Amino acid sequence: MANIILLGPPGAGKGTQARRLVEERGLVQLSTGDMLRAAQTSGTEMGRKVAAVMAAGQLVTDEIVIGLIGEKLAEGGSGFIFDGFPRTLAQADALGDLLARAGQRLDAVIEMQVDDEALVDRISGRFTCGNCGEVYHDRTKPTAAPGVCDVCGSSDLRRRADDNAESLRQRLMEYYKKTSPLIGYYHHAGKLFSVDGLAEIDDVAKSVARVLDGAKGA
Ligand code: AP5
Repeated sequence: MANIILLGPPGAGKGTQARRLVEERGLVQLSTGDMLRAAQTSGTEMGRKVAAVMAAGQLVTDEIVIGLIGEKLAEGGSGFIFDGFPRTLAQADALGDLLARAGQRLDAVIEMQVDDEALVDRISGRFTCGNCGEVYHDRTKPTAAPGVCDVCGSSDLRRRADDNAESLRQRLMEYYKKTSPLIGYYHHAGKLFSVDGLAEIDDVAKSVARVLDGAKGA
């Protein structure tokens, strides 16, 4: 099964598309953001360390996130969607090494292209289900019944601490400075595919599917 990276700035729709791929293709979503948020709620020392960094919209250290992904890959399996990882060139190199050690390869890096204006709108309207992780938006993807998750029926709907204008500005800066160089890195490796992330969610999913179906034979 394919191993892919979903690459794009905060709010590009990486998590939304990753969840669809889990459901439709049985791939395994590895979101470093979700792992770090889980560490915060588990009360570990690492969780306490990263909480302030994440709330400020800065990147957590390479060492921590590479460690988290390394642990997951060591459990075995294949068909991974890397969502929010890698975010620096050092993380990209480390992922290449980890996959090679596991006898696996990276099949495609899907860059989700969006503009900053759309990101502000998406981030400010986002909420997620605290129980199953489904992602919603006040305007573009509301719940069918107010206050209740469509997928699991939970009423634990939450907004993220870092989804505010100041943190988003910092997250975008981090993306352009440290993550966007990965576009050139993976283009050079012949792995990069770009999709229009501004399209409707279903249309983005179709573009992603076309890339994956093409990449299978690559
Ligand atoms: P992380 O959790 O990875 O956040 P992010 O990259 O900022 O991305 P988001 O989750 O905000 O957006 P998304 O692209 O998944 O969009 P979504 O699908 O939700 O990271 C958070 C923090 O953790 C970082 O700032 C950093 O501190 C730390 N961290 C994580 N990984 C790290 C790493 N590798 N190294 C170092 N630090 C790390 O969609 C957004 C909204 O838009 C939703 O409401 C959705 O419904 C809506 N939407 C989605 N698609 C569409 C569409 N096509 N049309 C209209 N609306 C749409």
